[in-house]
Amino acid sequence: MGLNLAQKIIKEHLISGEMTPGSEISIRIDQTLTQDSTGTMAYLQFEAMGIPRVKTKKSVAYIDHNTLQAGFENADDHKYIQTVTSKHGVYFSRPGNGICHQVQLERFGVPGMTLLGSDSHTPTGGGIGMLAIGAGGLDVAVAMGGGPYYMMMPKVCRVVLKGALRPWVTAKDIILEVLRNLSVKGGVGKVIEYAGDGIKSLTVPERATITNMGAELGATTSIFPSDEVTREFLKAQGRENDWVELKPDEDAQYDEELVIELDKLEPLAAQPHSPDNVAKIRDIGKLKVDQVAIGSCTNSSYMDMMKVAAILKGKKVHPNVSLVIAPGSRQVLTMLAQNGALADMVAAGARILESACGPCIGMGQAPATDAISLRTFNRNFEGRSGTKSAKVYLVSPETAAASAITGVLTDPSELGEAPKVSMPEKFVIDDSMVLEPAPEGADVEVVRGPNIKPFPINKALEDKVNGKALIKVGDNITTDHIMPSNAKLLPFRSNVPYLAEFCLTPCDADFPKRAKENGGGFIVGGSNYGQGSSREHAALAPLQLGIKGVIAKSFARIHMANLINSGIIPMTFENEADYDEIDMGDELVIENARDQIKNGSSIVVKNVTKGKDIKVNVSLSERQVEMILAGGLLNYTRQQNQ
Ligand code: F3S
Repeated sequence: MGLNLAQKIIKEHLISGEMTPGSEISIRIDQTLTQDSTGTMAYLQFEAMGIPRVKTKKSVAYIDHNTLQAGFENADDHKYIQTVTSKHGVYFSRPGNGICHQVQLERFGVPGMTLLGSDSHTPTGGGIGMLAIGAGGLDVAVAMGGGPYYMMMPKVCRVVLKGALRPWVTAKDIILEVLRNLSVKGGVGKVIEYAGDGIKSLTVPERATITNMGAELGATTSIFPSDEVTREFLKAQGRENDWVELKPDEDAQYDEELVIELDKLEPLAAQPHSPDNVAKIRDIGKLKVDQVAIGSCTNSSYMDMMKVAAILKGKKVHPNVSLVIAPGSRQVLTMLAQNGALADMVAAGARILESACGPCIGMGQAPATDAISLRTFNRNFEGRSGTKSAKVYLVSPETAAASAITGVLTDPSELGEAPKVSMPEKFVIDDSMVLEPAPEGADVEVVRGPNIKPFPINKALEDKVNGKALIKVGDNITTDHIMPSNAKLLPFRSNVPYLAEFCLTPCDADFPKRAKENGGGFIVGGSNYGQGSSREHAALAPLQLGIKGVIAKSFARIHMANLINSGIIPMTFENEADYDEIDMGDELVIENARDQIKNGSSIVVKNVTKGKDIKVNVSLSERQVEMILAGGLLNYTRQQNQ
């Protein structure tokens, strides 16, 4: 039987396990990436493992999230990352060089390779034919040390793109249509593999827009074949030698299939507050718009920016709209500056931001109270913009630019003829803002400012695990709820004790205090608990507060892995109705926890307060069982290395 593309790359990198969906496999990782907000922790963890030099083919550290330097904290982190990476063999992309996924695609991504990144949008690399997966920083640290990456063998869902897009309809509209069909849970446990005659007409950055937002489907990753379009892109980046052809076998099998007729699509928007709350622009109507933000790792490529510049050229931004634009990389910004497109944007009244995540991560440009903000980004969770009452709509760059001019949500086709923009034959190549690591054995001093604090490490699991249900939350709790990531907190990513004071406070302001007073305990959650970003701080902050286990209806994949890595037991109700059998403040206990977890997936949590036994599932692989028993991945890795 033939293999699909995802299976081919997995097979090529397989270290252990059976390639049957749902069973645990481990794969070899060729490349890693980190960004600064998860990177400090990843490198602290790498150091804690005691391995002198990274063993990957290429590892790159980016500074793109916390580029504001309102205090010493971010600059301390940057200095630490710059020095620790130099010492251990990692390339360092300086602040200002661009957003990690955009730069990785331009300068480092190689078709057919595996990429593990401590950022949930690492699947952007699937646009160039990589098997690119987002994971917690500790997983990335282990991969940098040459260790395998463990995951469940995914199912593979083929999305067949048929025909070609009509003018003004974009790659963003394709992925919004996929989200409309599959929902934010629809990709869980799956790789989304794109196929069909429609992919020929999509450039690599357009493909990357689609694979980028596969993260919003909850997918393990998304991938496109590597074809002539990929070769042209790599050639224009001066990297034609990195190209290989990749395609599924003729008789490849897929677990699921979705067909999208491209010529039937029209401009779409994801309405507040979920990326799958998708509707046609013309059905939503002419909403008055207060802010338009163009950029992020989803839509900040050269082509995106050139189309925006063409729409803005000779026009003025509506007086009631604040338009901000952040080109995705220094390469893109340089080219816009050289060809005059940047001047067109500025002349129209756009505010140009540095090439970084910026408003996407709540770093500046919080909208006004109750404002409507159109963004070309990938997430519109409540409060992520920095303003709780703001309503964020996710749209294409074309829709965003058109609406910035009219002041109301506008289907860009109303502007008449679509701008004609073509891929450059040669991108501007200047890697001078990527610093090579020091030679092996060189004497590099790692600089640790006061913002670099020790992180919590769990203890081996005790036989009796007990404590109160310290908080009970509903469905779809995101990592933004668990560990808020706003401009005030972002500088403290390497200071977990401080961050823990804000853990779950959007749900319950007293939770950290209560957790500390009780010496830790349990969290009770609804379905899809921990959806959103890959941030492992959403597991480290609860660990700092003494959380021993989370009992939920279901978990988002990366968050569950991060809990296990921290040695916190993730449990799902065997019978979902039992969610109602635990109230906040109930005393819970797991007797013989070590034996129960060793002996199988179904374990009993006693609700002592209500005098009731609650059956929960702990779906762990053998290795994950060992990790929970050891008190997390770091303890487990140290045990393995002894
Ligand atoms: Fe940055 Fe936003 Fe992407 S934070 S990595 S631009 S999702």
